[in-house]
Amino acid sequence: MASKSITTLQLRSKKTKGEKIVMCTAYDATFASILDEAGIEMLLVGDSLGMVVQGHDTTLPVTLDHMIYHTAAVSRGTKRAHIVGDLPFMSYRISVEQALTSATRMLQEGGAHSIKLEGGKDLAPTVAKIVQAGIPVVGHVGLTPQSVHAMGGFKVQGRDIESARRILDDAKALEEAGCFALVLEGIPLEVAAEITSQLSIPTIGIGAGMHCDGQVLVCYDLLGMNGEFKPKFLKTYANLREQVIDAASQFATEVREGTFPEEKHSFRAKKPHLVKHPPSEDSSSENDDPERLYGAPA
Ligand code: KIV
Repeated sequence: MASKSITTLQLRSKKTKGEKIVMCTAYDATFASILDEAGIEMLLVGDSLGMVVQGHDTTLPVTLDHMIYHTAAVSRGTKRAHIVGDLPFMSYRISVEQALTSATRMLQEGGAHSIKLEGGKDLAPTVAKIVQAGIPVVGHVGLTPQSVHAMGGFKVQGRDIESARRILDDAKALEEAGCFALVLEGIPLEVAAEITSQLSIPTIGIGAGMHCDGQVLVCYDLLGMNGEFKPKFLKTYANLREQVIDAASQFATEVREGTFPEEKHSFRAKKPHLVKHPPSEDSSSENDDPERLYGAPA
């Protein structure tokens, strides 16, 4: 069956047309289908899942097997968006062969359309080999969370002229090596603007200002699912944490009071032999197929 997914060519051409690219993380099939329906063009199965899904303080404990598991779930929930599978810590730095194997698994087992990796100039030969193998690559420079210990924390990068120049050189080297897009994370907006104007591939920013060719946010963050996480770069577009707490509390109250489930949420025996519980007037429901609980084929 021909794929209807958004292609790397379509994404690249958005820069030429001056159209912004919207990317968002997703980690499971349900969120993927919701974000896909919302028209998000790129779904990043980010190793940020180590923090927001697995509850770690960094992304370092995430393995390639974890990433493939979540990428496959996202693929199953997505019809149109371009899926980027993030290569986790040390799954692409030991050798070019290791990087090729990891990238291959991400497409073959995870169903991703491209992969993302963190790093600059030093990774350009690896990127070139992956691209030559027919696997599209998204680069990631600036604040690179897999190097959190080397950076001394999750800190804005490129504030002084030397480090800004280094990031620009890294960005150019990654474009040269064949990346089709580049994530710019945690850098001053002036630096991001300069990189964006010097590259022909699209830049996708997070904490990198408004001049990037696109923007990415972690879906749990933009939906307001973690009340305590309020970095300067984040805008929340919903308050799902509060809504989930309200809904779950109401469920708990109704269970404790005995007002849920009602008869309309219940099934009946084929013959009403349990005479102690005769059906009430409104017990039948249009969807009442007593054999089938869910929509899956029998
Ligand atoms: O892992 C991730 O979610 C990311 C984005 C924040 C760009 O790398």
